[in-house]
Amino acid sequence: MDEKRRRLLTGLSFAGAGVLINACRNTPTSTGSATNEEKKEGPAPGEAESVEVTATEDLMREHGILRRALLVYQESATRLRQDAALVPPDALEKTANLFRVFGEDYHEKKLEETFIFPTVKKAPGAAPTYVDILLAQHVRGREITDYLLSITKADRIPTNSVETLAKTLESFVRMYEHHAAIEDTIVFPAWKAAVGQSQLDELGAKFEDIEHDQFGDDGFEVALKRMEEIETSLGLSNLEMFTAPAPPNAK
Ligand SMILES: [Fe+2]
Ligand SMILES: [Fe+2]
Repeated sequence: MDEKRRRLLTGLSFAGAGVLINACRNTPTSTGSATNEEKKEGPAPGEAESVEVTATEDLMREHGILRRALLVYQESATRLRQDAALVPPDALEKTANLFRVFGEDYHEKKLEETFIFPTVKKAPGAAPTYVDILLAQHVRGREITDYLLSITKADRIPTNSVETLAKTLESFVRMYEHHAAIEDTIVFPAWKAAVGQSQLDELGAKFEDIEHDQFGDDGFEVALKRMEEIETSLGLSNLEMFTAPAPPNAK
């Protein structure tokens, strides 16, 4: 399938991905704008050469993007209880949209549910027992994302929805932190052991093709840029602010 046709189909099938990508491309600081052709020519002077990302590394760094979205949800829940006016609905909407397009439609449906879970289900050990729970959590996550996208349409969060929204955000964070941790430590290693090294390399290349098909670009870079914009808009981009205070002196 030629690139133009593939992009057309991608645009039709994944309108949400287009929203995500265009939002990033319109940002002057975006680094995700290099075309595939430009990438093939090698790094620009002063730029580091791109290094191969393995299939499991790919899945785990996608979790990194989703964890950053969870941080936005957690901080939003805290601020909602302090003063709902501190939480601009559009920042939450952008985060939920990123979770939908990058997390649910791509990472969960296109990779985990298509390639990872069917293999892990037949693997030895404890990993298969997690698959049905992980699938149920994907479904619950999508219900919560639907709710978030619906409640953030308005200019402000209705006062009588603030506590419910805060609780929903917190319960989603709690679920997905555990979900991603089990995948990182049990499910992905079981999958890696089941497929073996040569198939792992093939699947790594396939995952990259799927990413390009869905996003027409480097989906990870696009999502990362998008996440950074959201964090900046909410004043959450300074890692140092999250350093824990010193503990009380033990006696
Ligand atoms: Fe998952
Ligand atoms: Fe995952």
